[in-house]
Amino acid sequence: MKVLGIETSCDETSAAVVTDDREILSNVVRSQIAEHEIYGGVVPEIASRAHIKFLDGIIRKALEVARVAIAEIDGVAVTAGPGLIGGVIVGVMEAKALASVLGKPFLAVNHLEGHALTARLTDDVEFPYLLLLVSGGHCQILNVKGVGQYELLGETLDDAVGESFDKLAKMLKFPMPGGPKIEALAKSGNANAFELPRPLLGKKNLDFSFSGLKTAVKKVVDSREFPAEDIAATFQQRIGEILVEKMQSALNATSAKRMVVAGGVAANLHLRGALQKLADKSKVELICPPVALCTDNAAMIAWAGVEKLRLGLVDGLDFKPRARWPLVNL
Ligand code: KG4
Ligand code: ZN
Repeated sequence: MKVLGIETSCDETSAAVVTDDREILSNVVRSQIAEHEIYGGVVPEIASRAHIKFLDGIIRKALEVARVAIAEIDGVAVTAGPGLIGGVIVGVMEAKALASVLGKPFLAVNHLEGHALTARLTDDVEFPYLLLLVSGGHCQILNVKGVGQYELLGETLDDAVGESFDKLAKMLKFPMPGGPKIEALAKSGNANAFELPRPLLGKKNLDFSFSGLKTAVKKVVDSREFPAEDIAATFQQRIGEILVEKMQSALNATSAKRMVVAGGVAANLHLRGALQKLADKSKVELICPPVALCTDNAAMIAWAGVEKLRLGLVDGLDFKPRARWPLVNL
């Protein structure tokens, strides 16, 4: 079984072909950073227009690299939400047109489900597992019980983790995307340069809060007392401590045997290292998909399509794109 996947929900235009025996035949990703950089953030209208301009060529390239004729595709999967609605509409219209012309199943994939199931594509992880989903828009701990079966254990009450990395980068006047820049800076910084708050640590529930951390770090940036390297390192260290403590509580609460980290922030090697220590200490397995599959890409969407198609979870061509679509309401 071969599924074509399409991702256009934010600022990556991507198409991929993935098989049901977990082979990524192609995964073409075009980042729009160049288009948005001068605005200091993703501009939805510019994103939609760039998706329209490049998507056809990227799908063609994905089929070419995979050496698959479009008629050999068994299904067309697309991010149908959540995301910037203009971009989501571009991808969904394209996928519906292809599915309808080819007479093949149309698979509306939740973007977060794409992130959540990536570890099954890369590492064949069995259900159930504890998932830490950390991206530009989300910070959640979920108990993944099966395809379409996600139990929300905790989530951020304010900013997402990636968002706080991006905001700190902006305060330090670095170009987007902020996460990788902060990680690179932190390498040569002192991670104990100053004190930062420990929001919601020590609390029993599994919710997060990052806005207090943002305010505190802004004061430090404004004070000009510390070099950017120290600020990045201290901030990243505190984020790691918060994620580790909450995952520790989640492990205690669920007696899970496996932890998976997913989403763009999972590309951060310091955070991976901190979670690996927790996994070793708690004698559970930690699965982190390769960095290129943690940030937005169509291979994860194609794979979620494979998982859905195997279960006969096909969608109608009347499926409406969704700007908001919580994982727990699939
Ligand atoms: O999953 P993703 O590609 O897009 C969303 O669905 O949000 O995640 C993007 C987010 C951005 O906030 C970016 O700064 C963050 O992931 N990110 C990182 C790293 N690489 C990407 N954050 C921290 N460290 C990184 N190395
Ligand atoms: Zn994402």
